Amino acid sequence: MTSFNFILCALFVIPQISLSSDDCRAILQSAGATKEFGGRVGHAIHSLSVRNLKQFKPDVNETNQVPTVNLNLTSDIPILSYAPDRTTPDSHMFLLDGSIILDEILSHMDDKSYNLKNYNPLEQIVHTFHMEEMWASALIDYRNFEVDPPADEVCQCVMDIENNGILMKLRQTALIIREPNLMLGYGQERAERRCSENASSPGCSFFKSIGKSLPPLNSAKAWKRWKMDSGAMKGKDTALFLYCALNNNNGSNKNFKNIEWNQKYHY
Ligand SMILES: *[C@@H]1O[C@H](CO)[C@@H](O)[C@H](O)[C@H]1NC(C)=O
Ligand SMILES: *[C@@H]1O[C@H](CO)[C@@H](O)[C@H](O)[C@H]1NC(C)=O
Ligand SMILES: *[C@@H]1O[C@H](CO)[C@@H](O)[C@H](O)[C@H]1NC(C)=O
Ligand SMILES: *[C@@H]1O[C@H](CO)[C@@H](O)[C@H](O)[C@H]1NC(C)=O
Repeated sequence: MTSFNFILCALFVIPQISLSSDDCRAILQSAGATKEFGGRVGHAIHSLSVRNLKQFKPDVNETNQVPTVNLNLTSDIPILSYAPDRTTPDSHMFLLDGSIILDEILSHMDDKSYNLKNYNPLEQIVHTFHMEEMWASALIDYRNFEVDPPADEVCQCVMDIENNGILMKLRQTALIIREPNLMLGYGQERAERRCSENASSPGCSFFKSIGKSLPPLNSAKAWKRWKMDSGAMKGKDTALFLYCALNNNNGSNKNFKNIEWNQKYHY
């Protein structure tokens, strides 16, 4: 994998006509994105893998432009510039996606520094299926974008992850995954305020799930609480991002070698 990514370092960024953040906000909303575009997309894409992306576009490989959180929690690189291939050499034994997902998770079950820290294998499985639900929902909207693609200008704003909130959300997600004890309750106040104003506002259940309110998954009663956060969420923002990331020829120069990419976004 390392040597494979090394090849990518030869590619450089070609500046495009830059659109301001304000322009982009308006452009994204006129393309059907919600006001929470960056946060929603950052959350939805953080654990995507090549296997998932192949459902959107069959020829996707690790040379893709979908940034993700590194599930290897001891790596110096918290955010990857691409969605990795997480299948194991045994994946071919399985016909069902569900079995492949179990194989991907359980093959790391002895590694406490992989995937969500403090989550036991059952909780990791639930979290992964929650994400799979989200991608299944995004796939429906993605098919519509294939028929009626967004304009170049829209994709330029979609791929400007430094300014549209996607990278910020990925960083926050990486922190929560790596240091759950330090991040306990993070976002809780805002979520509580928002949820008391309107219990169905977007992101409400996700923010709640970060705090103490999510019990260990060891009883049917606890599952009832987990289930609240586990269903599909509206996928249009994510579909828009994935359409641009997987089909945007202009952006193909954005495949940085990981180290360079992380330095670029370091401050
Ligand atoms: C991976 O995908 C990229 C971009 O679509 C393509 O240029 C490249 O040839 C592919 N690599 C392999 C090994 O298939
Ligand atoms: C995670 O990263 C560390 C440090 O780079 C490395 O030693 C370890 O093998 C990696 N673990 C996995 C599962 O790739
Ligand atoms: C609450 O949020 C939902 C989802 O965004 C929205 O459809 C609904 O109109 C909101 N209700 C109020 C009273 O603002
Ligand atoms: C690439 O971007 C430039 C400038 O942003 C635009 O004029 C051109 O149409 C784009 N080409 C493709 C293939 O998207």
